[in-house]
Amino acid sequence: MTRRELLDYFVGGGFAATVAAGVLGTLSYLRPGHGAKPTGGGPVEVGDANEIPVGSAKAVKFREKSALVIHTKRGFVGLSAICTHAECVVYWDEEEQLIKCPCHAGVFDTNGNRVSGPPPRPLPAYRVEVVAGKIMLGGA
Ligand code: FES
Repeated sequence: MTRRELLDYFVGGGFAATVAAGVLGTLSYLRPGHGAKPTGGGPVEVGDANEIPVGSAKAVKFREKSALVIHTKRGFVGLSAICTHAECVVYWDEEEQLIKCPCHAGVFDTNGNRVSGPPPRPLPAYRVEVVAGKIMLGGA
């Protein structure tokens, strides 16, 4: 192989690779669902309403973070399960009907308001709707 043939081989290969990358990139862009990612805006189904009796709660993942859905006498309540003190994951104490933090004994009521302990703010609340028996957790 001469130097000229070798040079033509590499230049031609580079051109073919560039064309292939462009075609594949375009096809990838046009593929249905391209760029479809949770945008954080819409409600997310987190379970069946009938699996959480009044007075109980379910720990769920909401947008990759821990959350609680509590079935109170007033209806369903959705709260972040991340403590506002040092970000420990809180839990539902069914016997006392309170949300507790295992790290520094923070306590919250069913609205997410601090009852006692060091948490400086309430737990962020999420909108909850029951649609066709499914619990839909919405935006904050
Ligand atoms: S992290 Fe919850 S009380 Fe400290």
